[in-house]
Amino acid sequence: MKYNYNLAYFQKSADYVRSRIDFTPEIAIILGTGCGPLADEIQDAVVIPYEEIPNFLVSTVSDHAGKLICGTLMGKKVICMNGRFHYYEGYDFEQLTAPVRLFKLLGVQKTIVTNAAGAVNTDYAPGDVVILKDHLNFFNVCPTRGPNVEELGPRFFDVSDIYTKALREIALDCAARTELVVHEGVYMYFPGPHFETAAEIRAARLLGADCVGMSTVPEALTAAHCSMPLLGISLMTNMATGLASEKLGSGEVSQTAQNVETPFKEFIKDIISHL
Ligand code: HPA
Repeated sequence: MKYNYNLAYFQKSADYVRSRIDFTPEIAIILGTGCGPLADEIQDAVVIPYEEIPNFLVSTVSDHAGKLICGTLMGKKVICMNGRFHYYEGYDFEQLTAPVRLFKLLGVQKTIVTNAAGAVNTDYAPGDVVILKDHLNFFNVCPTRGPNVEELGPRFFDVSDIYTKALREIALDCAARTELVVHEGVYMYFPGPHFETAAEIRAARLLGADCVGMSTVPEALTAAHCSMPLLGISLMTNMATGLASEKLGSGEVSQTAQNVETPFKEFIKDIISHL
């Protein structure tokens, strides 16, 4: 067996972070590609580079910062990951449990995950936002595979409300106050790092996907395991392969994220103030 995690393993990361902050964070935020600027708005920030945290992981993606930022945002105590971890970096799904388990052990009550994604639903446009209501994960195993950490959650766990309905409703209410077009939809996980083929996107649409991306699902499954309420928010940075004439690259992804940076940031802040 490759991983033999137990509670003490994750507790070591949590003990270190707790030693650096003097409050219990209420909301955790994982920032995806292009969502980083939100981190600059956190007041009285304690910044902890990932490499300082024992038993944690380090970001290898160039535009992912790799820091935990703890402080106050919209009057709420938050812990924010600027830079997240992906399977395509070489991590196994089991390792990707670390962030949400850290949050849980710190006493976080709600987690928000953001990501950049490709739009599969042809009613969507680049720059639109999708509140995730469910996901499709046909490519990988579950991150909680291996010895179960019973103190965190059961071996077999329910995922019928993985993207917590009550939180989605709050986010959809906030949609009335943003200039962004906000949808509710289904995210389909692809491991990457290549973008999908046009045939895969046609299949994804047939299966019920509204958008596709290379993150979020490991964190979402870890959150469901430890009963962590979760809100997933995807920024449509591009139309998925085959739905637009241009070839896909990270340039387009970051350009769209940059174009809507301010309204996207304000939308997330509004949600945080209403959680
Ligand atoms: N596919 C997968 N991941 C993505 C995409 C995409 O089209 N855009 C941004 N992240």
